Amino acid sequence: MPDDSASVDLLDYGPPTETFLEDVVIGLSRGAKRLPSKYFYDHRGSKLFEQICQLDEYPVTRSELAIMRRFADEMAAQIGPGVMLVEYGSGSSVKTRLLLDHLEDPIAYVPVDISRRHLQLTAERLSAAYPDVQVLPVCADFTSKFDLPVADPAETHKAVYFPGSTIGNFQAEAAVEFLRGVARLCGRGGGLLIGIDLKKDVAEMEAAYNDRQGVTAEFNRNLLHRINRELDGDFQPEQFRHEAVYNDDFDRIEMHLVSEQDQEVSVGEHTFEFSEGESICTEYSHKYSIQEFAALAASTGLTLRRHWCDADRSFAVLHLAVIDEQTTV
Ligand code: AVI
Repeated sequence: MPDDSASVDLLDYGPPTETFLEDVVIGLSRGAKRLPSKYFYDHRGSKLFEQICQLDEYPVTRSELAIMRRFADEMAAQIGPGVMLVEYGSGSSVKTRLLLDHLEDPIAYVPVDISRRHLQLTAERLSAAYPDVQVLPVCADFTSKFDLPVADPAETHKAVYFPGSTIGNFQAEAAVEFLRGVARLCGRGGGLLIGIDLKKDVAEMEAAYNDRQGVTAEFNRNLLHRINRELDGDFQPEQFRHEAVYNDDFDRIEMHLVSEQDQEVSVGEHTFEFSEGESICTEYSHKYSIQEFAALAASTGLTLRRHWCDADRSFAVLHLAVIDEQTTV
């Protein structure tokens, strides 16, 4: 088989400062128990998420891909020539390629991901497929501060690409912090291309997180399997029921694991009590309108330039530009 990869150097910011164990202990010690959704994605969790993306009830991935297929040329024109394209997460090579195929003279592609193996693989593949683009991967947690690599020749401006509606999994404060970070990182002339899942009928949104085959339930419970395996836990995952409901007050789906009985669980040296019906909140998935998201972004120094939707107005891709302080005074 011919080798379709090319060797690339990686800018490595090392392991994340916070640890899985710390986060689990803090989350399960709270009055209202919580576990961070970022820990869903071990090997099995990532496979289950891929299955979720294929489900009839879960339109998010299909809708975004349809938008990218139809409008990537307009998005590329909006971003402009000579860009350094920075992608947060490096999982979406189909969407990324659609964009790279249409961009005029892109200078560099910078995937930023915490998973070193996945990052290296994506970077090597893209480097082979786009030999005229500098592929400069960065191993970092994109919610923390990190520096961008220097391209040579240099780009005319920077654009962050953040597909997948992952922003929906951030709480309001974290979303604001994240958008501020993007504006800071891109600077003058820069922009953000972001996918957001739009508000729709409540029954439809709840069905997307309560699929008939139970894949989402298994994805949710996989977090407990992961704790058992990696942190010496003794959760009985089947003793926790999956629940996903829409909370109107916060415009979000809330995913929970609800204890089926009174039980005690240990994780390493720590023990946690659960009463029957007590829940662990494992994920928020916020839904926005385009106007709401634009208002949120405006408070962080980003202004909406254009947006594209699918035929059902289920999902939107937004292009936002960094507000140039000098032209706004
Ligand atoms: C990754 N993220 C945008 C998904 C979502 O819809 O919030 C994760 C997910 N959780 C359950 N189903 C999918």
